[in-house]
Amino acid sequence: MIIAVDGPTASGKGTIAKALAAHYGLPHLDTGLLYRAVGWQVAQHGGDPDDPADALAACEFPAALLAEPRLRDEATGGLASRVSVHAAVRQALYARQRAFALQPGGAVLDGRDIGTVIAPEAEVKLFVTASVAARAERRWREMQQAGAGTTLDQIADDLRRRDARDRERAAAPLTAAPDAVLIDTSALGRAEAIAAAIEAVERIRHTG
Ligand code: C5P
Repeated sequence: MIIAVDGPTASGKGTIAKALAAHYGLPHLDTGLLYRAVGWQVAQHGGDPDDPADALAACEFPAALLAEPRLRDEATGGLASRVSVHAAVRQALYARQRAFALQPGGAVLDGRDIGTVIAPEAEVKLFVTASVAARAERRWREMQQAGAGTTLDQIADDLRRRDARDRERAAAPLTAAPDAVLIDTSALGRAEAIAAAIEAVERIRHTG
């Protein structure tokens, strides 16, 4: 079974994808991490993330880079969102994601275009959303714990900017596949969001 989990930043899609992978015993790929690695590598090489050639050159990153904790930083997320608009970058990362999706037994992938581009044949497609206010608050709490001094307004502005960039790009924009099940996590806690996702998967598996 291939499970595609798409949605915007901080919607809870990563948490849901990880939990589904554990529940169904499937391998999981956080595809955002690949774009984050490219964004990080461009910056390390002094390149311009908005330049398609610089961004494409950074797609040849060492596998060990995926373990770098700073890939998870907000700043790296911003770089990832800039390199991900280039069609050549998306093409360069396609084969790896596609092979992961097609491995025997299935897989869970989370990202922006899994159900639309990477694995349009996925049996299960979830589109996880939440209001900007709910997502900003979650991100803010995480950052408070990490001791960062960013305000809620700054985080909300950044989320809106990244949403717009992801939704308006020409190459594989963030959009729900027509056959995706929508899960709005705005009013759901972590456990409730996971339960809603498992319920959705079970419904799809049993009704086809
Ligand atoms: O999900 P995450 O916040 O780690 O993704 C970082 C950025 O990578 C996103 O803002 C998006 O622009 C890009 N991305 C993408 N396609 C994916 C996964 C992530 O364009 N499948």
